[in-house]
Amino acid sequence: MGKGTRMGWFNEARFGMFIHWGLYSIPARGEWVMFHERIPKAEYAKLAQKFNPKKFDAESWVKLAKESGMKYMVLTTRHHDGFCLFDSKASDFTSVKTAAKRDFVAEYAEACRKHEMKIGFYYSLLDWRFPGWHYGPEKDPESFNQMVEQAHSQVRELMTNYGKIDILWYDGGWIPTVEDKDIAKYWRSEELNSMVRELQPDIIINNRSGIAEDIDTPEQEVTAAQKGRCWESCMTIGDSWGYLKHNPDMKSTVQLIKYLVSAASGGGNYLLNIGPKPDGTIQKEFVARLKEIGKWMKVNGESIYSSERISAGFKATTTGGFPGTATAKGNIMYFHIFTWPGEIAVISSLKNNVKNARILATGEKLEFEKKDNGILILKGLPKNPPDKNDSVIAVELDGKPEAFSYDGIPL
Ligand code: GLC
Repeated sequence: MGKGTRMGWFNEARFGMFIHWGLYSIPARGEWVMFHERIPKAEYAKLAQKFNPKKFDAESWVKLAKESGMKYMVLTTRHHDGFCLFDSKASDFTSVKTAAKRDFVAEYAEACRKHEMKIGFYYSLLDWRFPGWHYGPEKDPESFNQMVEQAHSQVRELMTNYGKIDILWYDGGWIPTVEDKDIAKYWRSEELNSMVRELQPDIIINNRSGIAEDIDTPEQEVTAAQKGRCWESCMTIGDSWGYLKHNPDMKSTVQLIKYLVSAASGGGNYLLNIGPKPDGTIQKEFVARLKEIGKWMKVNGESIYSSERISAGFKATTTGGFPGTATAKGNIMYFHIFTWPGEIAVISSLKNNVKNARILATGEKLEFEKKDNGILILKGLPKNPPDKNDSVIAVELDGKPEAFSYDGIPL
């Protein structure tokens, strides 16, 4: 889909920041702490009297996202615990009516707008505080319906009080006693989403309210949706969405770049999550990785932004392809070489004729030889990789990339 369409900016963006932040950042044991530890709601609610993040500065989050090459952000305006980071007439359990006395969603939206960052709101339909969600709509219809009413009112508030919003990112649509295929009926999602579209005609809505809407949202894996469908993979850097006190198993910068490249290769987006600390600051391990990705994006962003989905024929590394990942845009293919081969690089599975090849980061032209059997030999490469994470070679073709198949062809 092109520039002028509603999905246009989304398909150019390719990289976004997900933010999980709320009361759960105080105990620092993940955003599911209330549920997993069976914390009664009155006790959990005490956290709201401690949640007063003096160092929260929405602009610094937006600047970090920008520096990382991200084009949009999605903030948990309310997670499954029911605590709103915004002002709500439908609930007293909000950051405005408790210790902080601030509307963080307003501050976030304003900062995004100031820096031309697209604005996403994550909203959890379910709210663990309602017995009706646990018992189910048949056993406790009164409480269940109150929760649904609350969701409708709060989504209306979010869509009304903060100006133009670019993405509505539902979550928590599942209901323990209801089959997943039936949840839209219980949330009255059709009615909900038509209200959203009336208030925000250009908005993009994800697929987690029980209706497919605009985008698929694979989680913790990069898997392309079926052809023609827009998609976005969300992922954590460490082991949790919400802040963890101890979070040693973090993906390295190159791993994160690999995921980003692989999303771009499938024509999808990568929504990378951070869980800020309770005081509103972001831990240094996240910042360091994001800044490094940003440095890489500055010189290699051309291979990511607006990428078009490439044929699966380029991906198989056992029957073809090459040891890396390719992205493409128009007649240009970008070969992301993670394991630098030395002075010569062999690319396979390429049917097209090649017009020229260059190292994307430096613009240096490369000598090459293109054979009829899909093999492209790039020559005179520097001995060491130009980029320690991912060196990209841009190859201009005589047309849109076409994969060469080796099936049935002996060596
Ligand atoms: C899951 C989790 C939730 C997280 C979300 C992100 O649905 O329940 O904690 O917010 O994934 O995609």
